[in-house]
Amino acid sequence: MHTVQAIADLRAQIADWRRAGERVALIPTMGNLHAGHLRLVEHARELAARTVASIFVNPTQFGPNEDFAGYPRTLDDDRRQLESVGLDLLFAPAVAAIYPRPLEDMTQVLVPGLSQMLCGTSRPIHFRGVATVVTKLFNLVQPDVAVFGEKDWQQLVVIRRMAADLDLPVEIVGVPTVREADGLAMSSRNRYLTPEERRNAPTLYATLTACAERLRAGERDCAALAADARTRLTAAGFRPDYFEIRRADDLQPPAAEDRELRVLAAAWLGRARLIDNVPVTLGRSPGAR
Ligand code: PAJ
Repeated sequence: MHTVQAIADLRAQIADWRRAGERVALIPTMGNLHAGHLRLVEHARELAARTVASIFVNPTQFGPNEDFAGYPRTLDDDRRQLESVGLDLLFAPAVAAIYPRPLEDMTQVLVPGLSQMLCGTSRPIHFRGVATVVTKLFNLVQPDVAVFGEKDWQQLVVIRRMAADLDLPVEIVGVPTVREADGLAMSSRNRYLTPEERRNAPTLYATLTACAERLRAGERDCAALAADARTRLTAAGFRPDYFEIRRADDLQPPAAEDRELRVLAAAWLGRARLIDNVPVTLGRSPGAR
C-alpha cells in the first residue's frame, strides 16, 4: 500500500492504473478508522481492481463550534488497518492542497433542500462542505465507483443527488451500517462517551428498531411514533436532536403508498452527537390491490 499526500502523485498513480484498463474504487473518510470503514474497503475491493481511500478531516463540513480541532487524528494506526484489508493507495492530503484559498473564495457545491433538513437543521453548513469535498475527491481520483456507509444515510442521499444533478460519471454504492455487539453503530465519535454513557448508547438503535417494528406491524401515525421515541430517548439520558420517519430515497415525509422508508435520529449523549438510522420496507397494506 502506498500513501501519497500530493495531488500530482495521486494523479500519476491513478493514470498508470487507467492505462492498464483497471477499474478504480474510492472510499472517502476522515480517518480514525474502525471496522465500519474497513467494511467499505472490503466491499470496494469486490467492485474494482484498485482501491483508493482518502483520509482528510474536512474543515468545511464542521461548524464554528463543532469538533474539527479535536477530531481524532490517528494516521499511523489507520494506515496499518488499511494495509491489513488490502487497500492499494491512501490519499492523505494537507488542508492547503484541498483548499488553497479560504472557502469563501472557492467554488462550492450546494445540494439544496436535502442539505437543510434533519442533520442540516442543526448543522447548516455541513452538507455543503461534504458535497464540495466529495466533488473535489471525485475529480482528483475519477473513480468508477465510490463507496459510502448507510450509517450516514442523509449524506448518502445528498451525494447520490449531487452525482445525478452534476452528471458525475461515478456509481455511488451504499454499505449497511456496521455495529458493535450491543447494536451501537460504530463511529469515531463514540470515543467521546464516558463508560456510563457508553452503556446507555445502544438505546438509540433500540429505539429506532422499536419504531421500525411498529411501522411493520401496521402503525402509521408517524408523529405519535416519533414522539414516543423522543420520550424514550430523553428518559435514557439523551438530548434528542431529531427523530423522523422519512421516505428512504429522497427523505420527504412518507405518503400512504410509500413502501421504502427510513427511520432516522440524531441525539446528544454527553459530549457526543450520535446519529443512526434503520430501513423499513412495508408490505402492501391490507385491502390494497
Ligand atoms: P467518516 O465519518 O470518516 O466516514 C467515512 C465513511 O465511512 C462514510 O461513508 C461513512 O458513512 C462510513 N461509516 C462510518 N461509520 C460506519 C459504520 N458504522 N458502518 C458503515 N459505514 C460507516 O463521512 C465522512 O467521513 C465524511 O463526511 C466524508 C464523506 C469523508 C467527507 O468528508
